[in-house]
Amino acid sequence: MSRQFLPVLLLLLRASCPWGQEQGPKSPSEEPPEEEIPKEDGILVLSRRTLGLALREHPALLVEFYAPWCGHCKALAPEYSKAAALLAADSTAVTLSKVDGPAQPELAEEFGVTEYPTLKFFRNGNRTHPEEYTGPREAEGIAEWLRRRVGPSAMRLEDEAAAQALIDGRDLVVIGFFQDLQDEDVATFLALARDALDMTFGLTDRPRLFQQFGLTKDTVVLFKKFDEGRADFPVDEELGLDLGDLSRFLVTHSMRLVTEFNSQTSPKIFAARILNHLLLFVNQTLAAHRELLAGFGEAAPQLPGAGAVRGGGRGS
Ligand SMILES: *[C@@H]1O[C@H](CO)[C@@H](O)[C@H](O)[C@H]1NC(C)=O
Ligand SMILES: *[C@@H]1O[C@H](CO)[C@@H](O)[C@H](O)[C@H]1NC(C)=O
Repeated sequence: MSRQFLPVLLLLLRASCPWGQEQGPKSPSEEPPEEEIPKEDGILVLSRRTLGLALREHPALLVEFYAPWCGHCKALAPEYSKAAALLAADSTAVTLSKVDGPAQPELAEEFGVTEYPTLKFFRNGNRTHPEEYTGPREAEGIAEWLRRRVGPSAMRLEDEAAAQALIDGRDLVVIGFFQDLQDEDVATFLALARDALDMTFGLTDRPRLFQQFGLTKDTVVLFKKFDEGRADFPVDEELGLDLGDLSRFLVTHSMRLVTEFNSQTSPKIFAARILNHLLLFVNQTLAAHRELLAGFGEAAPQLPGAGAVRGGGRGS
């Protein structure tokens, strides 16, 4: 029986190997060459045959399932390539790849892909438990989402100089002060830091830094370059750090007290679940209305979470 099967098996192997013909028969001890996975604009192009190889070779692999007819996929393509270039430029060890879902139905089915684009992040070749990509769809955001997974999502701060440099460097800086970095709350904090891409995160367990910032207990502190400058979120000693509560706290306090209501800010405003908003509709081309807005800004510190709608007029 094995005599009959052998030629068929060889033929199949030859057919699946692109160099089979050129190389001709070589000594049987020679390993077949590892298949080179094709690349397009810095993105690996994967198929049912090469996904396993890519997972073995790339311990951090983002896979985009796309469909050739999908408009959102076409819009994503240049951003995706740009993200790959950004990550290559700062030597982040992560690989971006794509799979044509309709052309690779077995893969689409295996990974439960029902809409395009769908992106999944694979770690350490683990094929069964990828992380769903939930990040932004533009280059810098994609790159940052990946950096915060491949590298630390919060910078370890050992001294005052490092803490001050971090706080001074960005508009929104969040520092977790934890007495014990092995605590479960720290894992919660780092998980939040992986997704809150518009803020920069630091982390410390140094008693001197607790002291310098007037803290005695585990606390997450948001430093901002506007309004009151700082907002503290003390960790509940009994219940621990709740990711949802901390997330809402950071969203709420990272907005200016008076925030223009527009298509960019409205998701944030609603995510914060602020219970009371004050909306001011003004025509910014009118001096009297600008005065009204200024007065609104002065009153806002007593009314946290107030919002302004600047609409209507030309130049607004
Ligand atoms: C993949 O990850 C899951 C969840 O972390 C784990 O249970 C599973 O054993 C991993 N599989 C492999 C092959 O490492
Ligand atoms: C805003 O004010 C300008 C200047 O008076 C006026 O021309 C414009 O119509 C106003 N817009 C609205 C929406 O009221």
